[in-house]
Amino acid sequence: MFLKEIVESHKYLLFAGKGGLGKTTLSATTARYLASRGKKVIVFSTDPQASLTDVFERDLFGKGEVELAGNLYALEIDADRVVSEYQADVRKKILDMYGSVPEEIEDYIKSASAQPAMSESATFDSMIELIMAGRYDYYIFDMMPHGHAIRFLSMASLLDTWINKVVDIRKDSQEVDERVRRMSGKKTHGTEETGILGELQDIKNRLDFMAKIIGGGDTTALFYVVIPEQMAIMDTETAIAEFKKFGIELSGIIVNQVYPRELLSDPDVPEFLKSRIRMQQSNMEIIHRKFADKIVAEVRMMDREPKGFAMLEKTANMVYG
Ligand SMILES: Nc1ncnc2c1ncn2[C@@H]1O[C@H](COP(=O)(O)OP(=O)(O)O)[C@@H](O)[C@H]1O
Ligand SMILES: [Mg+2]
Repeated sequence: MFLKEIVESHKYLLFAGKGGLGKTTLSATTARYLASRGKKVIVFSTDPQASLTDVFERDLFGKGEVELAGNLYALEIDADRVVSEYQADVRKKILDMYGSVPEEIEDYIKSASAQPAMSESATFDSMIELIMAGRYDYYIFDMMPHGHAIRFLSMASLLDTWINKVVDIRKDSQEVDERVRRMSGKKTHGTEETGILGELQDIKNRLDFMAKIIGGGDTTALFYVVIPEQMAIMDTETAIAEFKKFGIELSGIIVNQVYPRELLSDPDVPEFLKSRIRMQQSNMEIIHRKFADKIVAEVRMMDREPKGFAMLEKTANMVYG
């Protein structure tokens, strides 16, 4: 199967891979292509090192769903801000309940919010929210680097993790409750059991929905980006094995940043560059041997970084023809 066919026939498209190989570029290129076919598309960066802002040359960071052109939207969330909003929310609840926030509690809230898991959850929440609103024909996810992506995608175990997290948060809130009570000497209102269970159920419903989307092979395609270099090849092998552990099969591997081999027979091309191309070609052989039927596209190295609309269109034409 070719990339084009897979892309057109799946509503949710995920681009994963090591950093710096082309996830964001290919996400943006694919979004551009689908939008040009008259489909309503959103590209969402789940990578904390998001760079849709760079690729589209528009400030998207923390701006919500931004319309870039007819049918083409982008979303780059500011996970830190979501976390601090959450932090403010917790403070406010304590204030409403007890009239003041003791310093020790303040520290406690701050340290809890500093955990990396918090910003991951924030990203994940936005992803679910976006999908559940159902406003688009295609959803393109520029995924976080693979270590995170694996965890992110393993929905079954993630479900467990989340339920556990909720149970933890519940324990935490009881702990906060307890501390505030000790310090303020006031009686608390107690935790509303039904509210918490309702929230738990809500999260579970959302996750079931998401698990159906990601686990359901008919609607979701997961691509992995590699380049013809040894480190990247090794990373891809590891990733395939890890995805497999979670029962996730890649829909395809995209080989990016491939120098045109014709340059080898061009007398004007310097030996330095030729030697690099030969290195790439021998890695291409390895890639074909190792990943054979998984390879869905080879994308050329462009003469400059694919940034801005005109350049993305050029890349889209090259990739999707
Ligand atoms: N086919 C290509 N030709 C030329 N430059 C590319 C190509 N693909 C990616 N790049 C450049 O490589 C760098 C990394 O790509 P990017 O898409 O940001 O990777 P990732 O999102 O995986 O970290 C960027 O500067 C990008 O412009
Ligand atoms: Mg990126």
